[in-house]
Amino acid sequence: MNNDEKSPYEIKSTELASAAVWHNMKITPAQRAALLQQKPCCIWLTGLSGAGKSTIANALDALLHNQGKKSFLLDGDNLRHGLNKDLGMSESDRAENIRRVGEVAKLLVDAGLIVVCAFISPYRRDRQMVRSIFGHGNFIEVFVDTPLDVCESRDPKGLYKKARQGILKNFTGVSDPYEAPQSPELTIDTSRYSVEECTTQIFKILSL
Ligand code: ADX
Repeated sequence: MNNDEKSPYEIKSTELASAAVWHNMKITPAQRAALLQQKPCCIWLTGLSGAGKSTIANALDALLHNQGKKSFLLDGDNLRHGLNKDLGMSESDRAENIRRVGEVAKLLVDAGLIVVCAFISPYRRDRQMVRSIFGHGNFIEVFVDTPLDVCESRDPKGLYKKARQGILKNFTGVSDPYEAPQSPELTIDTSRYSVEECTTQIFKILSL
């Protein structure tokens, strides 16, 4: 039986993927970037829950926007309400979360945008996979290096408390690993610098 005889629902996604052909686009990513007069890139913030990723990512997105740059923000908590609401916090679900986000970020970068991503993304392998989607220099990994005790004392969502009580399983830093980046483009420590200073540090290393 070939694929033509199967109901579309019987065809596995891998078979569909191998049967799909690539359509070249008339307008290239470079042309889109030129129209927007900027150098698109993906700025990827990784770090523990409560490290300050979302706050800094939001401030950076606002700074870029106010400078006339076309930017967009992808945030872990927000995407888990929609695109990734079917995913949990197991190692494989986190890998799928990061894979999807990486692909979305790449599409937005190809559309000419400066994309700011804020995800715990605790596994090195997953972050490396996203990096490999992008061309050299288009992926800027920022380690939001806030110590665990500082994140835990902030506990803005009360999640560390629940994790310590065993109510919340697989909690990063408590009952699940966080693999710190070995050679990020930038490391920032939110316990020593203000949100504004951290945001400026990131902005300064961008070539827009
Ligand atoms: S990631 O590990 O897959 O990158 P992501 O950044 O999307 O995670 O989502 C993290 C958010 O999920 C946290 O900010 C927190 O609000 C929530 N969360 C719920 N359960 C957990 C957990 N077990 N570990 C970490 N974060 C959790």
